Amino acid sequence: MTKVALIGTGPCGLSFLRSLHQAQSKGENIPEVVAFEKQESWGGLWNYTWRTGSDQYGDPIHNSMYRYLWSNGPKECLEFADYSFDEHFKKPIPSFPPRAVLQDYILGRAENSNVKKYVKFNTTVTSVADNGNGFDITYRNKKDDQTKTESFDKLVVATGHFSVPYIPEYEGMNSFPGRIMHSHDFRDAEEFRDKNVVVLGSSYSAEDVALQCHKYGAKTVTIGYRNNPMGFNWPEGMKEVHYMDKIDGNKAVFKDGTVQEMDALILCTGYLHHFPFLPEDLKLKTHNRLYPPNLYKGVVWQNNQNLFYLGMQDQFHTFNMFDAQAWYVRDIIMNKITLPSADELAKDIDNWVKKEEALEDAYQMIDFQTDYCVDLCSAVDYPKIDFELIRKHFYDWEHHKEENILTYRDKSFSSPVTGTTGPSHHTTWLDAMDDSMSTYLDTK
Ligand SMILES: Cc1cc2nc3c(=O)[nH]c(=O)nc-3n(C[C@H](O)[C@H](O)[C@H](O)COP(=O)(O)OP(=O)(O)OC[C@H]3O[C@@H](n4cnc5c(N)ncnc54)[C@H](O)[C@@H]3O)c2cc1C
Ligand SMILES: NC(=O)c1ccc[n+]([C@@H]2O[C@H](COP(=O)([O-])OP(=O)(O)OC[C@H]3O[C@@H](n4cnc5c(N)ncnc54)[C@H](OP(=O)(O)O)[C@@H]3O)[C@@H](O)[C@H]2O)c1
Repeated sequence: MTKVALIGTGPCGLSFLRSLHQAQSKGENIPEVVAFEKQESWGGLWNYTWRTGSDQYGDPIHNSMYRYLWSNGPKECLEFADYSFDEHFKKPIPSFPPRAVLQDYILGRAENSNVKKYVKFNTTVTSVADNGNGFDITYRNKKDDQTKTESFDKLVVATGHFSVPYIPEYEGMNSFPGRIMHSHDFRDAEEFRDKNVVVLGSSYSAEDVALQCHKYGAKTVTIGYRNNPMGFNWPEGMKEVHYMDKIDGNKAVFKDGTVQEMDALILCTGYLHHFPFLPEDLKLKTHNRLYPPNLYKGVVWQNNQNLFYLGMQDQFHTFNMFDAQAWYVRDIIMNKITLPSADELAKDIDNWVKKEEALEDAYQMIDFQTDYCVDLCSAVDYPKIDFELIRKHFYDWEHHKEENILTYRDKSFSSPVTGTTGPSHHTTWLDAMDDSMSTYLDTK
């Protein structure tokens, strides 16, 4: 029987386990699978921890999420086709839930799939060697510090790519008297109440960390972009300026001449795709983009088709895209999909990469990734989901953000699975200080 190793049980790894469960429940013979998870629980980034740095066993902390993190896209855009929000929560819920609510949803489907038996928790994969027919995988049980090596025919890497921070260096950092941190280590905006905060970056972390600091009472928030500003209508107390040049004492000096006193500098400068356990020739090397190179259909390693990566793309679509990828990989492993010749495979990759490189704005990027999801789904038996509606929702969401960055999370969207429209939340996002699941779901 084919033996598959899965590394990581975040949303992508859980999608893969779900895809096997679904095949098995249709009476198909599924391969043997062992899933390795270095945390003590599954859910990946959605497991909040107060910890930063390393855990009690010396492993780097995976989590990059923080208290008060709310979904930054409508939940309807990420809904599982085979497990709706209505089914999980037994009632309609608003469109932008806080982290704990989405974690509950992800884990709810996993619990229902009877797949925990496949997972070795507290187990870090430390190295992988290509043995010609498959892989020799070495892993360490963190609790008893025992290391083992086992052979597998196929390997699915689902270790995420938003955990190892990219940290640039600026003149003056060594002598800056305040706090410097990366968004990976950001846990709670309360810390910055009444402080002057400078945030570097122009993507989702910069936007949300800056907004959190504003919401929880920072005195000023100055965002330094490198290439393109986000350009939202920032509220009073927030501004966006061009690129930090250096730090002079407690002042950030920007290229556009702005000089800003600061108590804290938060680097929202993104993450590295980092696979320390893989040999060089199997390692995906890419920046955060919609179509990383060398991956057929975004998931099959071009030069060794026993190796698969899940979720390595930059992400508009998330959970249902991960499902589509997992279903696709499952069907290759189960010989239901036959891979084309090396030439055709290379052409297909090249075609997607060229299309991606020609994209000019967020709307085209949404189209690109929606088309990618539709393409994958056309080859597998993932239940039908209305991607055209999801595409439209993403467009509307972009418009809402352009209209008012403080209120876009107060909007409602309809489900591409059940058709239900999310009710309005009892409190607007700006006034909602409590992100607990009980308060969120309390709709009386
Ligand atoms: C701050 C932040 C906020 C986000 N907010 C949203 C949001 O609102 N909505 C949304 O849809 N998406 C959001 N995302 C995107 C997020 O990438 C996905 O939702 C999702 O978590 C990706 O799943 P994944 O399984 O690919 O990776 P991860 O969630 O990162 O899971 C990877 C898993 O692999 C395990 N692992 C890693 N290395 C090893 C190893 N060597 N051995 C064993 N196990 C290993 C980790 O412990 C982890 O459990 C956010 C991301 C960040 C950083
Ligand atoms: N739920 C939420 O609210 C929430 C909150 C935070 C993050 N997220 C998720 O987290 C994921 C990661 O987002 P991310 O923003 O951390 O990473 P990202 O999307 O990869 O963006 C990295 C950013 O860093 C900038 N950058 C790099 N070096 C810089 C420098 N020296 N100076 C200034 N800017 C620099 C890049 O700018 P250039 O464009 O100039 O290269 C880019 O804007 C996304 O999937 C996002 O959805 C969600």
